[in-house]
Amino acid sequence: MATLLIKNGTIVDIDHEYQGNILIEGEKIVAITQTELPADQVIDAKGKYILPGGIDEHTHLGSFGGLGFETTHAALVGGTTTVIDFAPMHEGETFSEAIEAHDQTAAGIASCDYAFHSMVMGGGHQGLFNDVKNLPKHGVSTIKLLMGYKGSEYYSNDETIMHCMREARKYGITTMLHCENSDMISYLTEILEKEHPEQTIDHYYSRLPITEVEATHRGIDMAILTRAPLFIVHVTLKDSMLAIRDAYNRGYPIYGETCTHYLLLDKSYLGLPNFEGAKYVCAPPIRDKANQEPLWEALRKGWLTSASSDHCALIGGFEKKKTGYGDFAKIPNGVPGMQERMMMLWTYGVETGRISRQKFVEITATNPAKLINLPHKGRIAVGCDADIVIWDDQYEGEISNRESYQGIDYSAFEGFKVKGRPDQVFLRGVLMAEKGQFVGDKGQGRRQYAKPYGRCFDYLKHSPEVLG
Ligand code: URP
Ligand code: ZN
Repeated sequence: MATLLIKNGTIVDIDHEYQGNILIEGEKIVAITQTELPADQVIDAKGKYILPGGIDEHTHLGSFGGLGFETTHAALVGGTTTVIDFAPMHEGETFSEAIEAHDQTAAGIASCDYAFHSMVMGGGHQGLFNDVKNLPKHGVSTIKLLMGYKGSEYYSNDETIMHCMREARKYGITTMLHCENSDMISYLTEILEKEHPEQTIDHYYSRLPITEVEATHRGIDMAILTRAPLFIVHVTLKDSMLAIRDAYNRGYPIYGETCTHYLLLDKSYLGLPNFEGAKYVCAPPIRDKANQEPLWEALRKGWLTSASSDHCALIGGFEKKKTGYGDFAKIPNGVPGMQERMMMLWTYGVETGRISRQKFVEITATNPAKLINLPHKGRIAVGCDADIVIWDDQYEGEISNRESYQGIDYSAFEGFKVKGRPDQVFLRGVLMAEKGQFVGDKGQGRRQYAKPYGRCFDYLKHSPEVLG
């Protein structure tokens, strides 16, 4: 089997960093040494950091109208070697059928590795809950439910959520929840649509902070009632984050993530003229700037455990307009970002001193792997897949959609300065991207099979008395 040595780099993991040489044989890391071992190919990474390939735990490649797995070379260019994508469910399908159908859209097409979360659509039914036990067979250890889209196929009511939570807990499946209060949103939308439906910023005013905070508290209470571990997705607000932190500190296995755009963009983008604001429409909406530092603090202190992209690539000037022009409530939700995520978090997290390099690795790779329980991903360690990023922290540049592989007409981070980017990106030992260019073969991504009892169950293992 061909061997590759990456020598002299500074290897970063979640606890420390050290100089070392990484020997890769085939697809795996087989040794990490201080001595120089012989290899077929040697790369000198002196002066650079060696990071585990990023894992983006929240992407919509084909759901919510977003472009699909054919665009996943963009993730690799940005240093992400695995995406965890939501498998949409079509009418009458079980989880198992939806997962296998979604795999058909990825197999032989995805360029990076990929795993799936299940996602309840169509309101849920008993047959669906009975199928939860089959998820481990399909390599899926998470189910997402969405509270915020009443009137659409994505919506689940509280009863469905609690039935699903209870069933999920029995089989080591982690419940993920999108927390927004649909009734409050409908009430506000009706009023605002009568007044000035053409104002994109009203997407924000129809989904005010209270709609997320209320639903977050309710989601936590439902998890406590059903005694289920809970992972709250795309947290945008200080107050939602504090609810998660406080529940965890009270002894409940409640966790959450935020996303790149909530850390770096604010609601003023929604007010951009000429329908430009539509490009930033997502749910929950981007918020007041005052929430950004608390979200960084939460990442630093472990109150939120990761930062995903929630990548959902819709053509800004076309798809967003097609249904949304003239009515803010009909603008499709979604912001792209799987290519920019790692660079943005490094530049505005590590380079500003908000988070350490160790924390960067933890929130971009190690914790996402633990969320769904993929022990061979998200770390630089012997036996793990050789998903490796040689990171150049001296690179300086600017985000431009001209350099994007995401396949749409805008970047949400256009014009942002960056300091640091992937110099070389290896997927299972194969060079896939170099200095902002995709250099691999497309379609080489491989499906990853998660195991039940991901990290949100850790608390249960250690404190069974908390949940009985
Ligand atoms: O606006 C967003 N986030 N679109 C994708 C769907 C979701 O709610 O995650
Ligand atoms: Zn999402």
